[in-house]
Amino acid sequence: MSKKRGILLSFEGIEGTGKSTQTRRLCKYLKDKGISYTLLREPGSSVIGEQIRDILLFSKGKLSYFAETLLFIVARDQLRRQKIETALEKKDVVILDRYADATIAYQGYGSGVDINLINDLNNRAMGDAIADVTILFDVDPPIGLVRSGRNDRFEKRKMDFHERVRRGYLKIAKANPKRIKIINASEDVASIQDKVREIFLSVFKPRKVRQH
Ligand SMILES: Nc1ncnc2c1ncn2[C@@H]1O[C@H](COP(=O)(O)OP(=O)(O)OP(=O)(O)O)[C@@H](O)[C@H]1O
Ligand SMILES: [Mg+2]
Repeated sequence: MSKKRGILLSFEGIEGTGKSTQTRRLCKYLKDKGISYTLLREPGSSVIGEQIRDILLFSKGKLSYFAETLLFIVARDQLRRQKIETALEKKDVVILDRYADATIAYQGYGSGVDINLINDLNNRAMGDAIADVTILFDVDPPIGLVRSGRNDRFEKRKMDFHERVRRGYLKIAKANPKRIKIINASEDVASIQDKVREIFLSVFKPRKVRQH
């Protein structure tokens, strides 16, 4: 992949923290500024990815944690090859509503799958398409789950699972302080969006200047 590629932003956090709300708002901001972007969600945003999303979120069949992990990795690999790389080559701002950290937090810290193994698989699936910056929305799980109103396989897990996922995300952030920026997601939507834009501009501006 060319060095002068677009930038890749990922949004992470447990359910109901505001990832989709904030990515949509950021996209509107980019559109108004005439900045070309691609918004993708994980798992999904490719034909096979969406089929895998259905299995992961709504399948009634029993899925082992390891099988679940592998399905996320397959969806990631498909998305990277079919969408992310092309968008980055076009120099788009690529916005990912969840990405590799989610598998470490949910399947690793949350469900006990070997984290070193997930890291290896993630690296294979991502290739060079590593996030330039990751915004982690942090909030107490009960607040997020009430907001979310979802009714899928992950939402239905017990509260201690969501607590482990939250703590897992915070550990990942601590280990990657340059890439991962934490935002307190209990604030109001507009204040959070201001912070999201600030973080976006901190990675977007220098690149723009360098291109001239
Ligand atoms: N800062 C906020 N304060 C109060 N409510 C919020 C805030 N951000 C989002 N919401 C509301 O919470 C609900 C969940 O938000 P959203 O769908 O953006 O979360 P999400 O992180 O994408 O969740 P999921 O992981 O389930 O996809 C929505 O109804 C949204 O309007
Ligand atoms: Mg969402």
